[in-house]
Amino acid sequence: MRSLAHWASASLHPALITLGSAPKRLLFERSCRRRRLRIVLSPVNTLWGLSTPCAQLNSPHAAEGCISEDCSRRAVLFINFPKETALLLFFDPETEFPVLLAPMAGVTDLAFREICRAMGADFSYTEMVSAKGLYYGSDRTASLLAASPAERPYGVQLFGAEPEIVAAMAKRLCDEAHEGLALIDLNMGCPARKITGNGEGSALMRDLPRAARIIQAAAKASSLPITVKFRKGYDAEHINAVAFARMAEESGAQMVTVHGRTREQMYSGRADWDIIAEVKQALSIPVIGNGDVFSGADALALRAYTGCNGVMVARGAEGNPFIFREIKAALRGEPYSPPAAAERIDAALVHARRLVACRGNRAVIEMRKHVAWYLSGMRGASALRAQVNRIDSLAELEAMLTQYKGSLDS
Ligand SMILES: Cc1cc2nc3c(=O)[nH]c(=O)nc-3n(C[C@H](O)[C@H](O)[C@H](O)COP(=O)(O)O)c2cc1C
Repeated sequence: MRSLAHWASASLHPALITLGSAPKRLLFERSCRRRRLRIVLSPVNTLWGLSTPCAQLNSPHAAEGCISEDCSRRAVLFINFPKETALLLFFDPETEFPVLLAPMAGVTDLAFREICRAMGADFSYTEMVSAKGLYYGSDRTASLLAASPAERPYGVQLFGAEPEIVAAMAKRLCDEAHEGLALIDLNMGCPARKITGNGEGSALMRDLPRAARIIQAAAKASSLPITVKFRKGYDAEHINAVAFARMAEESGAQMVTVHGRTREQMYSGRADWDIIAEVKQALSIPVIGNGDVFSGADALALRAYTGCNGVMVARGAEGNPFIFREIKAALRGEPYSPPAAAERIDAALVHARRLVACRGNRAVIEMRKHVAWYLSGMRGASALRAQVNRIDSLAELEAMLTQYKGSLDS
């Protein structure tokens, strides 16, 4: 994985990597040079979307690549790599440290992910998507795959217990060549009873042979990197993150994320960072640390304590997408000023408008919890929360938030 979490993947359908602005492109060129890859940039505005290579990427394994720029002047890279070099790590683990927005079902909707990316999150995932739901054609499940151009590259997170179905859906996602899709993450940590009851999510931490079959099958079927997210263990008597992580690496996972709590703990207690450090020690693939990052200082501490290759933030971003700005400032050693109340309200408004544009007015109900989080700690927040919980149209929500914002000046 790389800072900007840019991956190129082996595929008959070339992977599309948006490198963004000129500085990012320079980073990419530097990274290629370090790996002794020779790249030649094509002229501006040419060859966008063409499969004909316009630049050669020379490495012991490389086939050919194509770099171009689209009309928005964002550098774009097409690469065709043989399968065995599926993962091209664009980030320099010595100097770069990616900050990822965690997948959170019911929370990390597309609108929220866009805001977090704008605040500096390097990578984001869809909410977890049922492989079985996709397989049986559920529209609701398929709708979770929607991603925004603002969050490229990004990952889809799948959950499932049947190796064949998970593999088939991983393959389908690759075949569909979703623009910006950089990896497929397998959820093996979800603690919810309705998930574990089907042998999915964290139930797989009690069934390593099945988990291995799922990862192997997905890695074989997918032309994109397969990554796995799991927990410290199932319960206090079954703490097996290190064995599980080794199994994941041996089965073909190209990165893991470890949440330092057991399934039994759900989200309570403190996350165990020692187990993240142990997993990091045991693996040679990148390890992302997750659990209890609620500030820039926490992110620095998690990195220092575990040596992890990146941090993932979940609850710390609820109502506070600014946390990515804070973490990025901390990583650069710069001071951070928290957003004023008005800026938080503006973020809530952008979120609500965008979510309603994506999902229609029913999204206002989903927005209630977000608004409560955005308002938390503000003057009169509890009365406002009660008010928000009665609102069911965007217009009412906008009026309420705008009026409240105005009242802050008085
Ligand atoms: C509401 C909620 C929904 C979540 N949904 C997912 C999910 O869909 N997939 C997943 O891998 N983890 C999910 N998680 C777990 C988080 O990604 C993360 O591992 C966990 O919250 C620990 O990180 P934190 O301490 O930063 O919150 C969810 C967590 C919460 C609170």
